[in-house]
Amino acid sequence: MSIASIALPRILRIGGGASRQLPDVLATLGLSRPLIVTDAFLVGQGRVETLQGSLKAAGIASRVFDGTVPDPTVASIEAGLAFLREGDHDCVVGFGGGSPLDSAKAIAMLARHGGSMADYKAPHVQDEPGLPVIAIPTTAGTGSEATRVTVITDERTDEKMMCPGLAYLPVAALVDYELTFTKPRRLTADTGIDSLTHAIEAYVSKRASPFTDGMALLAMRAIAPNLRRACDDPDDREAREALMLGATQAGIAFTNASVALVHGMSRPIGAHFHVPHGLSNAMLLPTVTAWSAPAALARYAECARAMGVADAREGDQGAVARLLEQLGALNRDLGVPGPAAWGIDAARWQGLIPTMCEQAIASGSPANNPRVPDAAEMAELYARVWDG
Ligand SMILES: [Fe+2]
Repeated sequence: MSIASIALPRILRIGGGASRQLPDVLATLGLSRPLIVTDAFLVGQGRVETLQGSLKAAGIASRVFDGTVPDPTVASIEAGLAFLREGDHDCVVGFGGGSPLDSAKAIAMLARHGGSMADYKAPHVQDEPGLPVIAIPTTAGTGSEATRVTVITDERTDEKMMCPGLAYLPVAALVDYELTFTKPRRLTADTGIDSLTHAIEAYVSKRASPFTDGMALLAMRAIAPNLRRACDDPDDREAREALMLGATQAGIAFTNASVALVHGMSRPIGAHFHVPHGLSNAMLLPTVTAWSAPAALARYAECARAMGVADAREGDQGAVARLLEQLGALNRDLGVPGPAAWGIDAARWQGLIPTMCEQAIASGSPANNPRVPDAAEMAELYARVWDG
């Protein structure tokens, strides 16, 4: 018998307007002195002012750190920590996409435990809590609001450091799809494919359990039919709501089952070439799925059925063929370029393949894949995705 070890945020509020319940959630948790960690874009849009306004109306004073950056760096986390220490805070509210949320988690942990972020990268596991984190995602993608990990880039080495542990699991997540209407098409596509990848990888992961399977399948059902809809009509409420719910369900699935080969190979592409995370996943997803599928045909077939691209009566082999067609079509419809078309220098790509393989394997994610490549096989996969 195997025991599934599951961890979840203590409070989830899910639905249109959920972010307006922040004052109530803080009161429930006995917290009253929040630092809001966000980015300059959301401040510019007036979103942070609205959030602060709702706190102020409830008599809660807050400060805002808006210096987070995409693929958060050690320096940006240290700046946030210094800002936090200038005030008197008992919790951190992460407001934004994956980068502000991951930044909030790292700042909240360091606020209590000190040291530098590199001290906390895997294999270190930081379970002892930092300051409580309340996560309010504004993109339907990373699922960071439900995960026990933060990813911080060491800018000196271009390494994406995976920092795992319960310290990074938000105590509360306010999942409000109304915050996603203004997402541009590219961001909707990239973050949506990221969450679809989380669900597929959690479902085929060697560490999957019946609990995570349920969440992963629900996520695929929610995401797959609605991704194109939200890209084509940003105001499609139903599609936005489904994508937001699916992203959180996929986050719950993968944080408790792990991601696999796509994410393992995707992180080095992001770190070396600054390709947005969802986009580098998308570049890899069809090819890596085709390579992995023979090792877990029934599982991938079930993904196709959950995504609504294969009939319940269709056999596994046929269903997997449908899945591969669909992943290719999705990339075409959403305008996902290969690394070549994205503008990466061919010689640099070729030259970095051995390093990327090494870093991917060291992350541990590929070992959870149903088919585990050695370095030579992985190099071949990197070569294969080059021109999309
Ligand atoms: Fe991801």
